[in-house]
Formats: sequence, structure tokens, C-alpha cells
Amino acid sequence: MLKNIFPLVAEIPTEWQLNDFIEQRAYLVNGELRIWDGPMNEVVSPVSTNTGNSIEKNIIGTTPLLTQKESLEALDAAVAAYSNGTGEWPTMSIAKRIAHVEQFLVEMKKQRSTVVKLLMWEIGKNLPDSEKEFDRTCIYIEDTIKGLKNLDRRNSKFENEEGVIAQVRRVPLGVALCMGPYNYPLNETFTTLIPALIMGNTVVFKPAKYGVLFIKPLLSVFQNCFPKGVINIIYGKGRETVGALMETGKIDVFAFIGTNKGASDIKKLHPKPNRLRSVLGLDAKNPAIVLPDADLETAVSECVAGSLSYNGQRCTALKIIFVQEQVVDSFIKKFTEGVAKLKCGMPWEKDVKITPLPEPGKTDYLKELVNNAKQFGASVINENGGEVNDTFFYPAVLYPVNAQMRLYTEEQFGPVVPIVSYKNIEEVIDYVVQSNFGQQLSIFGTNPKLIGHLIDELANQVGRININAQCQRGPDTYPFNGRKDSAEGTLSVDDALRAFSIRMLISTKDTVANKNIVQTIVREHQSNYLRLDYIF
Ligand code: G3H
Repeated sequence: MLKNIFPLVAEIPTEWQLNDFIEQRAYLVNGELRIWDGPMNEVVSPVSTNTGNSIEKNIIGTTPLLTQKESLEALDAAVAAYSNGTGEWPTMSIAKRIAHVEQFLVEMKKQRSTVVKLLMWEIGKNLPDSEKEFDRTCIYIEDTIKGLKNLDRRNSKFENEEGVIAQVRRVPLGVALCMGPYNYPLNETFTTLIPALIMGNTVVFKPAKYGVLFIKPLLSVFQNCFPKGVINIIYGKGRETVGALMETGKIDVFAFIGTNKGASDIKKLHPKPNRLRSVLGLDAKNPAIVLPDADLETAVSECVAGSLSYNGQRCTALKIIFVQEQVVDSFIKKFTEGVAKLKCGMPWEKDVKITPLPEPGKTDYLKELVNNAKQFGASVINENGGEVNDTFFYPAVLYPVNAQMRLYTEEQFGPVVPIVSYKNIEEVIDYVVQSNFGQQLSIFGTNPKLIGHLIDELANQVGRININAQCQRGPDTYPFNGRKDSAEGTLSVDDALRAFSIRMLISTKDTVANKNIVQTIVREHQSNYLRLDYIF
């Protein structure tokens, strides 16, 4: 099945060939693109090629392996630009900060084709999803600008309570450290980075483990669009770079999308944890619950897409499917037929859904999970399930899965789909209640009474319940969060603006003299904060 999955070099369409090796030595500190002449990290593409005799890995570029020293220089630049809240950026008017971000967006859009191509080569994401990641990020930035204007307009007023006149504004928190995940290295990183910047924080940004080279064309865009030190971009191993930053105690906001273990290890290093705000998107094991009266066509198509879009490498992916025993046979028949229709191939191929995996060792890890499930009585029930060629793993559907297996609780983050047959809905409710994770779940059914009961049982367990639909983050204006080990804080276009800022009140006693002062400040535009003007 997978023997000829990787193309000969000559078979790669010209449009998608990477003609040049990308040696990426520059990093951005204090408005300067500094050139690193130390050790480099090789970027190995998940897309291998077929030489005719063997499968060959493609090393498509290198990125700097910076040390503590350069990371701390980046932090110093961010600290200086923030200057305890007195710097140019944190005190700049909102309208001016918005103008910087608008300029950034115009310049970023010019890099679309380069970024999309690199996303395919670096993380194996298919072409439509790579394009969507880019476009969705641009829309997110546009919506963020709109959201901030709305927020600012709502705050352009005075309250008068109990003889105290007040105006409430939102102001930045300080220096933010932003780190994103490899599965959405552009989108998820920018959904924290852009709100952090636009609210007046200064930032140290470290790109994800994979999905790094595509930042190269954006480095000079960042450099040109923001004052020096406002955004600093570093590369290297987490333990070498990020730990040192956190230990200084100078990070005020930690925005991280990754594992809960990674987040806790980094957070613990901050010497004054009460000064650190965290915005975290973490692990998940979102279950689908298929009720006996579910419309199986809908349930199957949503579960196939929900568990296997981008090879199951989405934090919101359906990672375990519970099916009521009366319908489990019909469900798995239709489900495996649905999986068989998913086209495997290289990211740029038309209609391709299953692509190579970027994490080294991932196929071995997935095999381990499959073998563990087999040991406790499950079988791979789809043809070719679990077949491997280099970085390619053909989706494996495992059934019947039970609580003894690692797949029951462990987040596979890949193309392995565990299916559990249940008798009583209480078994599933208990699973959700006992789970360490609480991001989202999906319910498939048609009986309003039963669905209503389940909603009430499960509403305090997760951040979102999807009815007859797969789990997903979007639309990005809706709150995205999680309970337990799945998240800290809430993200959405508007929530992110709040997450990276704090309310600040300007107040005075209601006397004639005070009112005169306030009115004069406002009328004569004496303050960037105390004002009544609208940003349209
Ligand atoms: O990896 C987690 C992403 O936030 C999921 O977003 O549901 O739009 O794929 P998505």
C-alpha cells in the first residue's frame, strides 16, 4: 500500500519543489537581524523522496541553536522596550499600535506562497490546510484589530458610582514569552503573539519544534513593522533557551501551546509565580459519543474528519470514539469504509488527506500504542491499518478498545483511532469525569431528551460540547479553552485581548474642580488613556 508513497524527485511538481537549501542564521533581537555563527539544527522534512532504490530523507535547511546568552539578550531587549511600562510601545496610543499591526499584516500577506510551501515541507500539512492556516491567521489579525477598536470604543466613556467618576481602560502586562505548537506553527503562535503585541506588551517569541523555516521571510517583516525590542525572535532547544528566560523572573506572561508537562516544568522556574500570568493550550483526549439513535452517516463523516484531519495531529481531534453496542457493528463498518476513502500522499497532491508525520520517532510510538492495544484484546480492523513506510503511518482503527490499553487514556496525536463499545451511557460519563483532560467532546444522536441529559451531566467537564459535529477550535470569535490539564485561560479574538492586558481605572471624586480637570484633559487631548475619542 505505502511502497510507492514517496515521490521520485522528478515527480514533484515544479511549483512545489524547494530549489534552495534554506540556511537560516538570522534571529531578531532589539530590532537587529543578528547572524549566528554557532551550531545549527538540521530541518529534516517529513517528506522523503524515493531514489528508485531507497527512501531518502530531505534536509531542507538549518536554524540557529542559540544558547542562553543570546536568549537573555533577546529578553533584555524586550525588557528595555517595555521599560517597566514606560517604554514607547506600552505607552503608545492604541490607534498607533493598531497602525503597526496593520502594516505588518499587509507585508505578511505578501509572503503567503512562501509560507504555505514551507508549511507543507516542514510539517507535512496538505495544501488546502496550509493555505487555510495562513488565511485564517490573517483573518484572525483583522478580527483582533476590529475587536480592539470595539473594546476601546466601549471603554471610551465615564462611569459615576457612589460619587466616584471613573474610566476603565485595558493596559499591557509586561514582557510576554510566546511559544506555539508544531501542528499550527503559524496560526496558534500568532493567536497569542499578535494580541500580546497589540495590547502593548513586548515579546520574546520562540518558534515551535517543527515549522520554523517559514518564519524566515517574516523576520524582516517583524523587524520593519515594530519598534526595536518590541518583538524578539529566538531559535534553539527549549531547555537551553526558555528555562533561562523564566528563571530571571522577568517574564510577565507565558503563552504556550504544548504539553501540560512542558508547561508545568517551565512555569515552575519562575521565581515569583504570582507575577506570572499563563495562557496555555495543552493536551486533550476529546471523546466522540455515538448514541444508539445517531444518524450514522453524519456521525461517521464527522468522526472520520474529526479523528484524522491532518493525520489526527490537532489538539481538538477526536481521540477516542465511544459507540453504543447496538450500533457499533454498523458504525465500524461505515467508519472503516470512510477511512479507506482518505487519499494518502504528499501534501501538495490533489485531495490528499493523509500525509507524512513530522515528529522523528512518531511512527514507532504509534506502533507501540497499536501493539499495546493488541496485547489487551483489540485488533486493527481496517485494511492496511498501521502500515508504515518511513515517516508515513497508514491510519489504524483499533477495536474493541478497553481501559487496560494505553490508547484509552493516552493522547496519541496521530492517525490511530480507538473505538470503544459501551452498554450504558454512565460508562461514558464516568470516563469523561475521570479523565485528566477536559477540552471538548462530541455527542452524536437525535433524541433531544437524551442529548439534553448528557449536556447537563457533562457541561462542567469540558470547554465545549459539540452536537452532531466534530470538535474544533473555530470560529475564532468563540471561546476556546479547556478544563483540568487541557488549558489555562480562554482564547478567542476578544478573550485574547483580555488575556494579555489588565484593567486600569482612572477615577476621581465627583466635585466641580475634579470634573473640570477631567473635562479639560479630555477636551485638549492631554492623555493617551483618559480620553473620549473613538477609533473607527
Ligand atoms: O491543535 C489545536 C488547534 O487549536 C485546533 O484547531 O480545531 O481549528 O483544527 P482546529
